[in-house]
Amino acid sequence: MPKDYRFSHLSWDGLQGLDVRRKASLFNDGGRPIHTLVAQQFTRGMLDDLCGLATRIRRIAKSKDGMHFLNGLLDHKRAMLYFSQPSTRTFLSFYAACQIIGIKAAEVRDPATSSELKGESIEDSIRTFSSYFDLLIMRTPQQGLAEHMAWLLSNTERPVPIINAGSGKDQHPTQALLDIYTLQRSFERLGGIDGKTVVFVGDLLRGRTVRSLAWLLTNYTDVKQYFVAAKPLQIGEDVLQQLDEAGVKYEVREDFESVIPEADAIYMTRLQDEWGNVPGAGDKDNGTKYHFRAEHLRLLKRNAILMHPLPRRKEIAVEVDSDPRAMYWRQVRNGMWIRVALIVTTFRLDGEVNKYYELNLE
Ligand code: NCD
Repeated sequence: MPKDYRFSHLSWDGLQGLDVRRKASLFNDGGRPIHTLVAQQFTRGMLDDLCGLATRIRRIAKSKDGMHFLNGLLDHKRAMLYFSQPSTRTFLSFYAACQIIGIKAAEVRDPATSSELKGESIEDSIRTFSSYFDLLIMRTPQQGLAEHMAWLLSNTERPVPIINAGSGKDQHPTQALLDIYTLQRSFERLGGIDGKTVVFVGDLLRGRTVRSLAWLLTNYTDVKQYFVAAKPLQIGEDVLQQLDEAGVKYEVREDFESVIPEADAIYMTRLQDEWGNVPGAGDKDNGTKYHFRAEHLRLLKRNAILMHPLPRRKEIAVEVDSDPRAMYWRQVRNGMWIRVALIVTTFRLDGEVNKYYELNLE
């Protein structure tokens, strides 16, 4: 782990004042993340490396010897999973990823059981916890908290890498990584992600997975993005502005059915009503206009895929699950492997994994 945290000389305001891509680049070193905080820090090269590494790791993991090798990679390290927002799947995905590479993980799920209840600031709490561990994985309702902690710890004696496992309505970079990995695997024999059309549907206003993935897709050539939602739930202007600056093609639409035949990938999301109700946004089930029903399958291209970050309500009919184009259960599995690859890369052990792979599996 490089000791030189590249933004420790900046004030918090100074860091926030930087252009988002410039700022994001400070979270990397030598083409690898130091922290994983925002989608904007990932370049095409980094994405290709992570996806390749994840695939090699899952092949290594198929044998007992391979699993022993993986188990020993980071068995001298400990991680804290600080999840102050409801989460089971992302929590377990990271927990399992840590287990695969031998990291011992501890958890804080409910800050009400910690000294935060005694009036301690969340920053002090997390700084205290970080003293016991070598890696922090955080999910919080506060936008930017993971970034703030990374900055704060970078000015201490003992900075540790931080992985953002979901921050407010803003970012969910590791979900976007697993989505990219899923798209890449699905289109492996179809020219990859370049040139594909990706359709986002549902609550795009508050869906952080969409915001992170829309950005990651700007790393690919000629990808077209559609944002399909009821008007009050449309994607934020800030995302569209970033896409404009990146020269990416996109369309904002209200009608879902007419877009289905154009899609190579459809990314359904649920109404994020834990953030409150948006007038005119439809009912708890997101308004049936934005549901993928069994009869929509015949509108979908033969090689297209259907994605969902889960949890699902009624955005995708259960009858669709058995269609080979339904990719959401595979997304879950891909998530665990890409998180293993991310942690391995964060600790600069990707070279070691690649060496093992070349010696034993090529
Ligand atoms: C997503 C999240 O938490 O943003 N879930 C997840 O991480 N798999 C999406 C959601 O909750 O709808």
